[in-house]
Amino acid sequence: MNSFSRESKNKKNRREFLRNGMVAAGAATLGTGLLASGAPALAQQEKEKSGQLPKGDAAILRFLAAAEIIETDLWVQYNELGGIQDNEVPGGSGSPLYTAALQVLDGDMNQYIHDNTEDEFTHETFINAYLASKGADTVNLEPFRTLPGSTATGSSGKPRLTNLMKLTVDTSWWTRYRSRTQNPDFGDTFPQAVPSLAAGQHPAIPRTDADLSPSNHLQAIANTAGFHFATIEQGGTSLYPSLAQRVSSSEVLQIVLSIGGTEAIHFQTWHDKAGNAPPLTDPSDSTLVFPDLNAPPLGGEDFQTNLIMPEPTVFLSKSLPACSIIRPTNTTGAATGALNFLTAMGLFIGQSAPFFALLRELAEEADAARREGER
Ligand SMILES: [Fe+2]
Ligand SMILES: [Fe+2]
Repeated sequence: MNSFSRESKNKKNRREFLRNGMVAAGAATLGTGLLASGAPALAQQEKEKSGQLPKGDAAILRFLAAAEIIETDLWVQYNELGGIQDNEVPGGSGSPLYTAALQVLDGDMNQYIHDNTEDEFTHETFINAYLASKGADTVNLEPFRTLPGSTATGSSGKPRLTNLMKLTVDTSWWTRYRSRTQNPDFGDTFPQAVPSLAAGQHPAIPRTDADLSPSNHLQAIANTAGFHFATIEQGGTSLYPSLAQRVSSSEVLQIVLSIGGTEAIHFQTWHDKAGNAPPLTDPSDSTLVFPDLNAPPLGGEDFQTNLIMPEPTVFLSKSLPACSIIRPTNTTGAATGALNFLTAMGLFIGQSAPFFALLRELAEEADAARREGER
């Protein structure tokens, strides 16, 4: 088999995987970019894959479906232990001590966790249903539901797609959204709010009942979750407008704008709650320190914890006036960037090579999408 037909076969296998939820033979050998325009068999396959949607729109929606499946999986784990388990968001039976530690950040944390979880379910279900309604391939990650989750009392114990027990949490959104002069789309970088969360590996849920004490250890886990909530949701807040710029159909644009706005609502809520995380050092891990965010090097009129709305900053051109905006929103490589961000967070520790190959392919196809009429 020459390399071209091998690449074609791998792509076809992964498509069948997407359609049927079966692990395709050879999916681990990742094919890249050998999609030949004009090859009749491939053109037919691409048409099947996109149905009545523009090819790029279907690819963008499929990547977003995968991101939403991942979001749902992690939020379900939080809801089982620290949210509200009911018929809207079933699963688990709650960990009273973890729930109480989360409520130190806000008395309504369990309600917000429940509602964020329900939202992600609906995002995932809607996007896949819309793809199917247009005859396009959908996304199914169920065969990768293999990771052991928490065994603490209250967890359902079902296998997971994501790992919340070894997180490295980038907290630079805290300073990014408070900057009046810098924007990541200009290449600017931002200091961490909680430097020790951005290094090492930290649990955001109790791994076993042993994590329920001492109380400051459990509080450190709840604080980690509090920052992780905002880190995840600011990622979604940037991802949707970044990809919207390359959507062609006005209806798909309506979907991306309408779902994307709810990610910003989630982020705003969690940004507010993270600022209430009590300063402490984890007695079980002295390297994990939650600082007083109202004291130097943060705090003051630029960094105080109640500055939860985006400070106006430079946008598009430094010659234009400052503007209060979501950032980053650069569209180039946005899907691959989101996948790298989730991977670097440790969310997929323990996942298989075929899982990464499939997500990489979905991201690359989304990043290859171009708005019709623009090349
Ligand atoms: Fe979502
Ligand atoms: Fe979200």
